[in-house]
Formats: sequence, structure tokens, C-alpha cells
Amino acid sequence: MKNQKIVITGASDGIGYVCANILAGQGAEVILVGRNREKCAAAVETIKRATETDTITFEIADLSLLREVRALAEGIAAAHGHIDVLLNNAGAFTKSRRQTDEGLEHTFALNHMAYFVLTDLLLPRLRAAQQGRIINVASGVHRRGRINFDDLQGQRNYAGWPAYCHSKLMNVMFTHVLARRLEGTSVTANSLHPGFVASKFGHNNKGIASLVLRLAQTLMAISPEAGAKTSVYLATSPDLATTSGRYFEKCREVAAAPQSLDETAQERLWQISEEVAASIP
Ligand SMILES: NC(=O)c1ccc[n+]([C@@H]2O[C@H](COP(=O)([O-])OP(=O)(O)OC[C@H]3O[C@@H](n4cnc5c(N)ncnc54)[C@H](OP(=O)(O)O)[C@@H]3O)[C@@H](O)[C@H]2O)c1
Repeated sequence: MKNQKIVITGASDGIGYVCANILAGQGAEVILVGRNREKCAAAVETIKRATETDTITFEIADLSLLREVRALAEGIAAAHGHIDVLLNNAGAFTKSRRQTDEGLEHTFALNHMAYFVLTDLLLPRLRAAQQGRIINVASGVHRRGRINFDDLQGQRNYAGWPAYCHSKLMNVMFTHVLARRLEGTSVTANSLHPGFVASKFGHNNKGIASLVLRLAQTLMAISPEAGAKTSVYLATSPDLATTSGRYFEKCREVAAAPQSLDETAQERLWQISEEVAASIP
């Protein structure tokens, strides 16, 4: 991975942190993105010590806010002529509906719009790489997702877990459209499920749902190291240099849910995402 520049969102903790550690250890230049300065600085220092490298830096952005996503992209684009891999990984399960100060529902904003806008703005840098890779961390629960175009942001009806599943379906659908738009270029786009991982995923919520999730993580989940494997595989495998528009689990391509393959719905989601992005200056 020497001379490879890799941007990883949500890399201050969990699966993203492990990916940053592994990829830095393989010699890549890693740009770790997180929202908490102290935590990111500590993560970078730990990785530098563990990997005996100094090619890892960090950038701060609250990715639920489009203005911060744009500022992040601007900073990265100004500092780097090309990006080899963009690993869109930051995501969360938000049990109760909340709106960002830009007026977007939080799950939709962080889990979908941040992927959409950051990818769009960094695309020129990915095109400038010899072979650019966009990797979208989705989830197996995209299979339970349904896109309700009449209430995309749960204004009439919000429930945290379904909203999370819908957002992960959006990740897979977004990847499919993106791959279509990138056909004939040197940039690929794929999505993945990392597995059920014992990270801090869901710990931001309170109450019984959070307790049940933590218990399930303790009893049934794989480690963040195991959870990072498919992301690292997609970022590094020479076999995947031209593979695009696919969905992976356990480092293997598997079929994505049928509802993610509906091209009319994919294009509609893309168009609405563009409109949402344009509505927030
Ligand atoms: N864990 C699972 O079982 C599982 C299963 C399927 C898919 N996934 C997906 O895997 C990805 C990574 O999840 P994880 O399990 O590693 O979760 P995690 O341990 O909660 O880590 C999430 C990372 O995202 C960052 N983040 C959260 N909100 C952010 C925001 N508003 N702005 C910027 N960064 C933000 C967190 O920052 P802080 O350190 O500041 O909190 C952290 O670095 C997510 O997309 C998730 O949907 C997870």
C-alpha cells in the first residue's frame, strides 16, 4: 500500500479505527476523519506508535452537517492531488428522531448524505489516482430497508432501527448508481457489510434498546479487527481493480437485496440527494 492515499471516515473508533491501523501498517498514507479532536489525535498517536509510521494525519468534521462535509472535502482536496481510496465508514444508529441544525434528520444526514456529498466532492481527486476506489460501508440490515420517498426523513413516521436499515439500503443503492456513472473510468465503487461487530455502535442511545444491543454485542458479535477485514480487502485487493457496483460480505461478493437493484428508485434517490444537497448552502 506504499504511496496509496486513503481517506477513512469514522476512524477515531470501531471498525474505521482498525482499518486505519491496518492500512497505515501496510504503508498507506492515511487521512483519518473523526469529529472529536482529542480522540482523533490520540488515535493517530497510537497508530503511529503501533505501526512505526508517520504517514497518518487526521481531519475533523461532524459529518452529519453538510457544511462540515464540504469544508472537509475542500481541505483534503487542497492538500492532496489524488486520493486512491475513499472509505465512507462513519455511521450511527439514532434511536429517537433528531434534526441537525441544517434541518436534516440525523440518520439520513450522517449515514447517507455525508457519503453522497463527500464522494461527489472528492471524485476529481479519486479520478486523479491511477485506480481510485470508493468503498461504502453499508450493512446486512439493508435487506430490511424500504425507501419511502414520501417520507424519506421520517417527518411523519420515525423509528430508529427502521430508519437505520433504510439508510443502509441507501448506501447500497447509492453505490449501484455511482458505479454506473463511473463506468469507463478508472474509479470503482463497492459496498459491504462488516458483520455484527462489537464496537461502540449504538452506544450513543439510552434505554432498553441500547442495553439489548450491548448484550448482543458481548454475546454474539465479532471483534472490530474481524469486522475490518472486508473493508481492508476492498481497499487493497489487486483482484478488485476493475470490480465495481458489487456488494460484499466476509470478503466475498454476494447478492444485494432485490430492492437495492431497482434502477428507477436508485436514480430517484440520487436526484433527491442532489436536491437536498443543493438546498443546504
Ligand atoms: N457494528 C456493527 O455491528 C455494524 C454492522 C453493520 C454495519 N456497521 C457500519 O459500520 C460503520 C462503522 O461502525 P462501527 O461499528 O465502527 O461504529 P462505532 O464504533 O460507533 O464507530 C463509529 C465511528 O464514526 C464516527 N462518527 C459517528 N458520528 C459521527 C459524526 N457525526 N461525524 C463524524 N464522525 C462520526 C465515530 O466517532 P466518535 O469516535 O467521535 O464516536 C466513530 O469514529 C457504520 O457505518 C455502521 O453503520 C456496523
